[in-house]
Amino acid sequence: MSRRDITVASLADLRERGKIVVEAGGVEVGLYSVGDELRAWRNLCPHQGGPVCQGKFLPRTIEVVDERKRANPGISAEEKSIVCPWHGFEFDVLTGKHVVQGSIGLIAVPLRVEGEDVVISV
Ligand code: FES
Repeated sequence: MSRRDITVASLADLRERGKIVVEAGGVEVGLYSVGDELRAWRNLCPHQGGPVCQGKFLPRTIEVVDERKRANPGISAEEKSIVCPWHGFEFDVLTGKHVVQGSIGLIAVPLRVEGEDVVISV
């Protein structure tokens, strides 16, 4: 089966919204913009096939240890996660890997920018 290149969004719109879920060539894909980076992942969770890209897209929750060695909840300034709406599996938006069990992850979709357009290959 050969791949097709399909224009799915404008770069400006993706940069502004941060996340867009599209259907292209019979495949649902989540497009993400983080800083200067762009990613495209299949909207298919490796756990039980849930619509992972329909889940929340938010800063990673981390544990911050203070000077008295007490753990407190915190928010990462750099890392963002995609959280599957079915059972809460959390994936790093840039690597697609599960944040704890790195052997499982999302399926990458080739993405490129052509002028002002975001193009994926499906
Ligand atoms: S299907 Fe995504 S966490 Fe279960």
